[in-house]
Amino acid sequence: MSAEQPILAAQNLTRRYGGGILSRAPAVTAVDGVSLAVRAGQTLAIVGESGSGKSTVARMLVGLERPDLGSVTIDGRDMAALGYHARRQLGRTIQYVFQDPIASLNPRHSVARILDGTLRRLAGVAPAAARRDAMEALLALVGLPGDSLERYPHEFSGGQAQRIAIARALAAQARILVLDEPVSALDVSVQAQVLLLLDRLRTQLGLTYVFISHDLAVIEAVADTVLVMQAGRVVEEGPAAALFARPKTGYTRQLLDSAPRMEPGGGWLAPPARHA
Ligand SMILES: Nc1ncnc2c1ncn2[C@@H]1O[C@H](COP(=O)(O)OP(=O)(O)O)[C@@H](O)[C@H]1O
Ligand SMILES: [Mg+2]
Repeated sequence: MSAEQPILAAQNLTRRYGGGILSRAPAVTAVDGVSLAVRAGQTLAIVGESGSGKSTVARMLVGLERPDLGSVTIDGRDMAALGYHARRQLGRTIQYVFQDPIASLNPRHSVARILDGTLRRLAGVAPAAARRDAMEALLALVGLPGDSLERYPHEFSGGQAQRIAIARALAAQARILVLDEPVSALDVSVQAQVLLLLDRLRTQLGLTYVFISHDLAVIEAVADTVLVMQAGRVVEEGPAAALFARPKTGYTRQLLDSAPRMEPGGGWLAPPARHA
């Protein structure tokens, strides 16, 4: 892989819903010709109002949904063109983290079972003892207490549950995380802690993020580049600092104007003053 080649790219992604002869609802073009590229170790943020197609892009990036048109490439390889095994191998390196952490975890499975299944099936760690060691290392990595393994998702706070979901993504040996509103469901003080964790993991493990949010204060804190979506299309994109300083479209300016701004010198990535 050359230094210039993006680790993740999408070309002309398009997705329509409904509108078939058996459907009463008119067709909705949820995503309309979206292209993007992310370099390894960078954070690409996708921002846009609710319904602008962010989650649909995310689901196509991680292979949860098939585009009607367009393609997704990881390390320059077109996912749809790969055979089953190659697609599985490469596909596990990109993982989805959902907005609602507790709902994204199986309530009947202990944390041990959640992580163990991923380590066994996706990462292919065969010896049980090695999986146990890996689970303990993952807990430490995401800052969860050592006794978390035998507990169940509902026993954790939202912030802790999101740490479990992140640990599960890392258990798959992900190199790219698609984080879909990962802190939107959390209290503000907890948001800051999870954002700090994500920032640390990115540096420590060399991860690449696609970070989706409707919250520009969060985007400003995490993004290297920003892609602005409206009604399924990209209306503006560029380096985060330039885009925030000089938004080109009225739509982006409106998003900025309606967003709560960070205090000078403060911001989400500064350690919270107190723990709530
Ligand atoms: N499974 C689906 N069936 C029908 N319409 C959908 C489906 N998923 C998303 N949509 C529609 O596609 C558009 C984009 O949705 P979504 O990608 O969830 O936007 P966002 O994440 O930006 O809020 C919306 O109009 C939404 O109603
Ligand atoms: Mg969404």
